[in-house]
Amino acid sequence: MVNISSLWQYLALQSPLQSMSGEQFNITKMGLTTYSLPQLPYAYDALEPHISAQIMQLHHSKHHQAYVTNLNKALESHVAAVAANDIASQIALQQAIKFNGGGHINHSLFWKNLAPAGSDETSLSAAKDLVTAIESTWGSFDNFKKTFSAILLSIQGSGWGWLVREGGQQGGLRIVTTKDQDPVVGGDIVIFGVDMWEHAYYLQYLNGKAAYVENIWNVINWKTAGERFLGTSSSDNMPEL
Ligand SMILES: [Fe+2]
Repeated sequence: MVNISSLWQYLALQSPLQSMSGEQFNITKMGLTTYSLPQLPYAYDALEPHISAQIMQLHHSKHHQAYVTNLNKALESHVAAVAANDIASQIALQQAIKFNGGGHINHSLFWKNLAPAGSDETSLSAAKDLVTAIESTWGSFDNFKKTFSAILLSIQGSGWGWLVREGGQQGGLRIVTTKDQDPVVGGDIVIFGVDMWEHAYYLQYLNGKAAYVENIWNVINWKTAGERFLGTSSSDNMPEL
């Protein structure tokens, strides 16, 4: 099972880089924890026609797997560097841990906040409290959707767009973006996220990024989003994902 909690805390400590101490990075407690690719909660073709089976298969079994593999390699090297008091190697590994650890966290969240179009999970009625909070924050659900979509399309290069609960379980709703594979840190709770890397849509939508964004709304798992908002999910909310 994915143990994201300590990884998430570890990445949060690196933003900004705070200390070179293994103890403060909690690295000794992490030891040689290895991460594994989580199973998708649906089949590769389950999100068609909005996200093709080809994209889902490559995205999950190749891209996400690569983040997991490279994260484990970097963590193993980092543990060895800490044991050897090799500070230069520890510093050199920070970016690989951040990038691949973030990739693992982000995709693990993303798969769970998607569901087959037309399923009960994609109905807004599965997240009544969240929808009420969205309407209160943005005036209407349509205005939220329009605002979120515009922010997704404004991301330059590779990154993610997220709806978060700012600062913790009592916080207000906010839309944030992260660059590359940076995860959401700092206590914000992820409600749902959208992968805006080209690998998430290019094989199907080519340069039609706006069409991808328009169609992603059909496969947002509002049940998961609503549970993350309320903090009632035992498996999907931060920090356990
Ligand atoms: Fe991705």
